[in-house]
Amino acid sequence: NAMFSWQRTAYHFQPQKNWMNDPDGPLFHKGWYHLFYQYNPDSAVWGNITWGHAVSTDLIHWLYLPFAMIPDRWYDINGVWTGSATLLPDGRIMMLYTGSTNESIQVQNLAYPANLSDPLLIDWVKYPDNPVIVPPNGTETDEFRDPTTAWMGPDGTWRITIGSRYNKSVGLSLVYQTSNFTTYDLLEGVLHAVPGTGMWECVDFYPVAINGSTGLDSSANGPGTKHVLKASLDDTKRDHYAIGVYDLATDKWTPDNPKEDVGIGLQVDYGRYYASKTFYDQSKQRRVLWGWINETDTETDDLAKGWASVQTIPREVLYDNKTGTNILQWPVEEIESLSIGQATQLDIFAEFEIEMVSETKHEKYGCSGGAVDRSHLGPFGLLVIADQTLSELTPIFFRPVNTTEGTVETYFCADETRSSEASDVYKQVYGSTVPVLTDEKFQMRLLVDHSIVESFAQGGRRVITSRVYPTKAIYGDARLFLFNNATGVKVKATLKIWDLNSAFIHPFPFDQN
Ligand code: FRU
Repeated sequence: NAMFSWQRTAYHFQPQKNWMNDPDGPLFHKGWYHLFYQYNPDSAVWGNITWGHAVSTDLIHWLYLPFAMIPDRWYDINGVWTGSATLLPDGRIMMLYTGSTNESIQVQNLAYPANLSDPLLIDWVKYPDNPVIVPPNGTETDEFRDPTTAWMGPDGTWRITIGSRYNKSVGLSLVYQTSNFTTYDLLEGVLHAVPGTGMWECVDFYPVAINGSTGLDSSANGPGTKHVLKASLDDTKRDHYAIGVYDLATDKWTPDNPKEDVGIGLQVDYGRYYASKTFYDQSKQRRVLWGWINETDTETDDLAKGWASVQTIPREVLYDNKTGTNILQWPVEEIESLSIGQATQLDIFAEFEIEMVSETKHEKYGCSGGAVDRSHLGPFGLLVIADQTLSELTPIFFRPVNTTEGTVETYFCADETRSSEASDVYKQVYGSTVPVLTDEKFQMRLLVDHSIVESFAQGGRRVITSRVYPTKAIYGDARLFLFNNATGVKVKATLKIWDLNSAFIHPFPFDQN
């Protein structure tokens, strides 16, 4: 539909048509990155969930492959839902996924490549004795899904964790032990539980190196590591994480800061973002994060345009050893290969310095008021996907505020309220506080791709993904502006801008639809 064609992204991953949701089972095998995804082959709305499959050698350019798995057995006939891959030391690949059965019960199933020597891993075999795990007593049969990548314990056996809910509102993750991926024992207790957070979907659990240097294999543990626990909260549709310590003896995880526990503290992304999942890329010793950018327009529009949803640019994840309180996310280095001229496809790095004047008047601002007002220290930042007359614009900005304690606290925000003249799309102001250390400038990096903006503050301490639907600021009419609304300080800005080429995303040489 030409009316919506400008919304298609040029370097983000999206299927040729129809509905997509969660990323599934990402892995690297024989020179190829594999991405599977929740896909509806029949329509631009959720349903008939099938595993789409695409491969890439650089995480940027993709080749669509035939579906990896379709809902064709009693144990997944209502959907081949989200799952994760585990690479075994002997080279085998175990794919665990949730099936929604003929009775809509959520069970865990096993699948594996038919031919490991095929770098494209085109054919997948479902284990004949599926399901391998059924909902345990005391668990709602429709609240038990999305198995993680397995990690190996000190006893040489594997563990996985699966999100669920208990007693109406306690979000939690169960731990199973296995030595063969076909039989499993539920371990006593839980990996972790947080009251009030509701059903945990798409749990992710992985180690990070405290020195912040490289990514770690999922089985790494012990001194020098911490563990990140992430849950996608079904109630709020937000991805939350916390950093903590995993006790190998008891298979329990404890947050470093109980006040910032999973679901009540940090978000992976403060924008439009859900169901994220990491994998360890053994070829570059890094941990890479995928996330699903859902639409915020209407289902009618999605049906009219014939597609819905995009995946974020894959992000490298590290522990932030400067703050010790958050992870860092940064677009994978391969995106730089797209650098070439259009203001709809940009990679922007902006640095701001403010002359601090010692006026300590406390101003009670956060992100919620957007970028329209003025205050002593801000807001200042960039207006992206803006048209010449500024009838459409999306400000991405910092707002430092004086606290009553005499310190400065900085908010990092994205204001979508004026992003489009279309009235039937959801426009929100997103944001959070971000640590800005005393010797640091205010820094942001923005990836702009037609209708998507991914914004990274302070080297990736906070990230905001925006889904916008401009009607005028499209193609050659899109502009980029700097703005400063601070009344009390001068702001010096330094900008580096790269125009990005389009990534090629090729169809497989036959039409599977
Ligand atoms: C998250 C989710 C998962 C489920 C899948 C179904 O978006 O609801 O919990 O496995 O999507 O498509």
